[in-house]
Amino acid sequence: MRKPTAIRFEMTDIAKLKDHTGRVAIFVDEEGRLDSNARRCNALTKGAVARAVEGDVFAKTKPGQAFTLNMPVGMAAIALDIVRVARRSTVVQLRKTGATLAKLRGTAEVLVAAGPLRGVENVALGLAMRDYTFVDHKTGSDDISGSVVIMCSKPDDATQAASPLLAIAEGAFMTRDLTNEPANILTTTEFANRLEDMRDLGLKVEVLDEEALASLGMRTLLSVGQGSDSPSKVVVMEWNGGTEGDAPLALIGKGVVFDTGGISLKPAGGMEDMTMDMGGAGVVAGTMRALALRGAKANVVGLVGLVENMPSGNATRPGDVITSMKGDTVEVINTDAEGRLVLCDVMWYAQDRFAPKAMIDLATLTGAIIIGLGHENAGVFSNNDTFCDAFLKAAKAEGEGAWRMPLGDAYDDMLKSRIADMKNIGGRPAGSITAAQFLQRFVKDDTPWIHLDIAGVASVKSETALAPTGATGWGVMALNRLVSDVYEDG
Ligand code: BES
Ligand code: MN
Ligand code: ZN
Repeated sequence: MRKPTAIRFEMTDIAKLKDHTGRVAIFVDEEGRLDSNARRCNALTKGAVARAVEGDVFAKTKPGQAFTLNMPVGMAAIALDIVRVARRSTVVQLRKTGATLAKLRGTAEVLVAAGPLRGVENVALGLAMRDYTFVDHKTGSDDISGSVVIMCSKPDDATQAASPLLAIAEGAFMTRDLTNEPANILTTTEFANRLEDMRDLGLKVEVLDEEALASLGMRTLLSVGQGSDSPSKVVVMEWNGGTEGDAPLALIGKGVVFDTGGISLKPAGGMEDMTMDMGGAGVVAGTMRALALRGAKANVVGLVGLVENMPSGNATRPGDVITSMKGDTVEVINTDAEGRLVLCDVMWYAQDRFAPKAMIDLATLTGAIIIGLGHENAGVFSNNDTFCDAFLKAAKAEGEGAWRMPLGDAYDDMLKSRIADMKNIGGRPAGSITAAQFLQRFVKDDTPWIHLDIAGVASVKSETALAPTGATGWGVMALNRLVSDVYEDG
């Protein structure tokens, strides 16, 4: 697994600006005032910094963005990046500033002269998050990146404040690696193995095989995986950092390692994107990793359903009726609506076994949510306003788009089946909502629940604020914050 770039904080030493041979970055506030680092670089470059700041380019540079003086005369650096930054930046703005630095640097060593800037730890997180590429399958690319040093006024405080944030980056990197990985490599077995490796971090990890799932009665989950040669699995990850015996928060992830659609086969064009259909399970894994790495004082359990949706002589057919673990029967109208069949059994099992305080499921569940919300916001569905508001607040604070969608009986009625308790699809109208209604049938009345449809945000074709194209790791930061806001003692 790719580790986030190590970032060192050091006491400001103005003497280093002249001789650093990589890139040097300095900060200038909105009014164009130079701090002592910027003044030093200005003196070294015989006034180039001031000339640049007084000119048009600076006026057009938005806070969080930078412009570059290449090969600055008087300095050993290959480039001097002048970053415009608002005096009172929000966490999200500081992270974008860090991302700007990451994009500029490529693989060069960088000396960031942050001066008295407050919240440098969030610059570090943004830098770490954006400093990611998935090169595992590019031969000859070792991707050796130079070091990053941030000079600031309180390096010890910054180091301490950055440590839990870098745990988040590491969690998000795990999510991205899993989500980017092709399906011939990330099989259900390989996925489970990577989760088992997290035992080293103090997580309790249990893998349920097909035999165990069959005896638990998880037939709807098994019906999705039965056409594949890869065995279906459910992995349970427990982090017990809170009060012993306290009911946990449960995170449930859809882990379809590849979604062909099954017998209701998807069209060929774009089918390769369905390697990311395990994105929900990826977010659950990455969040558990982040919580363990920072030693969260909360009880959280993560459960993922790992299956592959393939057509074969043994695959589930349209028209088949399957009995879920709960006991409700489902008429499978379309084998491509498979995510809900996986989640319903895992959600039921999670409630049965852990009686969680609250439950959140994450899934790349519907194409319809992309039509509705694009790639900016995940769809949020909930049976509990207080719980839902706490999540939306956390997502907003972390800059991860999330937008609440409705639920209601009229939508639920669209799932009525002639021969079974329900159908697995409700038709074209409101496709994301009927999918959520299907899931809600497997939520006990007193369990506060949120369903996150992340089909539009888990993996994208153009870069986002903190991620290059491909898997984003959306949700790790928001879920981590929700845990610290609501579930952590003290
Ligand atoms: N995995 C897909 C949803 C999806 C689409 C995720 C695009 C990411 C990008 C899901 O299993 C699916 O196929 N959903 C169907 C549901 C339909 C058959 C009711 C869809 O959205 O078309
Ligand atoms: Mn599908
Ligand atoms: Zn799917």
